[in-house]
Amino acid sequence: MRLALLGCGTVGSEVVRLLHEQAADLTARIGAPLEITGIAVRRLGRDRGDLPVDPGLFTTDALGLVKRDDVDVVVEVVGGIEPARGWLVEALRAGKSVVTANKALLAEDGPALHDAAAEGGGDLYYEASVAGAIPLLRPLRESLHGDRINRVTGIVNGTTNFILSAMDATGAGFAEALEEATELGYAEADPTADVEGFDAAAKAAILASLAFHTRVGAADVHREGITEVTAADVASAKAMGCTIKLLCIAARGADAGGRETVSVRVHPAMIPLSHPLASVGDAFNAVFVEAEAAGPLMFYGRGAGGAPTASAVLGDVVAVSRNRLAGVRSASESAYADLPVRPMGEALTRYHVSLDVADRPGVLAAVAGVFARHDVSIATVRQGPAGGGAAGRGEDADLVIVTHVAPDAALAATVRELRGLDIVRSVASVLRVEGGL
Ligand code: NDP
Ligand code: HSE
Repeated sequence: MRLALLGCGTVGSEVVRLLHEQAADLTARIGAPLEITGIAVRRLGRDRGDLPVDPGLFTTDALGLVKRDDVDVVVEVVGGIEPARGWLVEALRAGKSVVTANKALLAEDGPALHDAAAEGGGDLYYEASVAGAIPLLRPLRESLHGDRINRVTGIVNGTTNFILSAMDATGAGFAEALEEATELGYAEADPTADVEGFDAAAKAAILASLAFHTRVGAADVHREGITEVTAADVASAKAMGCTIKLLCIAARGADAGGRETVSVRVHPAMIPLSHPLASVGDAFNAVFVEAEAAGPLMFYGRGAGGAPTASAVLGDVVAVSRNRLAGVRSASESAYADLPVRPMGEALTRYHVSLDVADRPGVLAAVAGVFARHDVSIATVRQGPAGGGAAGRGEDADLVIVTHVAPDAALAATVRELRGLDIVRSVASVLRVEGGL
């Protein structure tokens, strides 16, 4: 099996190392030796340490490498949309098999890759694109194909999980926790894709596509990052016996006419400490899958890093190589259900709203009236003197309200109206709530 490796950075260099260290085992498992025919990089002169590979294999001509007749499998670990899309479409149309970790490309234009794979007859595998080392996409696209998945809830971005875990542990604000993540090498120099939720949204699109047999792209995913999460939010969550996580949630539902739909979203949310995802700390990832017959399933492990991600890449390389030797291919997608994706406003969520209100008769009734006007049912109300401390009748009070499930648009409209009330001094914190409270 002849491999073209596109990219030799954090992940690619570990792919090379593992291919070298495990050559004999991989040969035995595949039934043929794996040989690297070329490695495409951007900078030929870059110091690559003691990488166990012939320096003559490096090239800057990725497209030329992809087009070579002596290439069976293309492994893409460069990232980004272009030129990666052009390389992979070219490889797939020519009947080569592709293994990629490129979640951004899959979420942006997965259909172009799947169509090219179907046209060329090769495999398209992408286990490393979501949750790094965790075997997750193969279970979704193979093991659970006899079942019906109702919901997928995950922590799929290690950087933001590290930041939120640090905020929870130390009471630090977002900026301080981001600084720590950067110093420790978790956050990239430009952390935008992680902290604004783009990375998690791309992964959510891939997960939803596989779980619901429907093409879901990045543009279908409602996305909110963690930059607005404050130390006060974290303290509010703690007071409720909760923690805050950046969740990706993909769920089946129904529209007003009863037609089956899916909703896919990424946003910070409060979850109770008893929730299976609450104890997922540091830069770890975890995904909780709820299936009709299987029930709840939990996947946990390292979602990033060179070696963990290379492990997933190599698993795919073994699978596609075996397929080629056997003369078969696996369907890279299953999109027959073609379910409509519901807008965020129709997704059913719950809110935790913390208000600083005037402490005088009728205030609670006025606030409750706003919720009622938007048909939002209140689950719990907690009131205390503003800023905590000894109970007593001051001028202001803290009012913490947790709602029952309601359409997100109704909840958002409720908060908008609350902000306009003169008895509401400020809306201190608004967080969605997931899992039972
Ligand atoms: P790096 O930035 O470390 O490496 C990128 C590699 O691509 C480098 O070798 C670079 O060359 C090469 N490259 C960049 N542009 C070109 C080009 N135009 N032509 C040829 N080669 C090029 O990225 P990572 O290894 O971190 O990530 C690779 C992929 O894996 C991305 O899709 C990422 O999202 C995904 N991924 C990464 C994870 C991680 O933990 N890092 C986890 C899961 C997925 P040079 O070495 O010369 O600079
Ligand atoms: N930036 C990503 C993360 C890398 O923090 O999870 C893994 O996809």
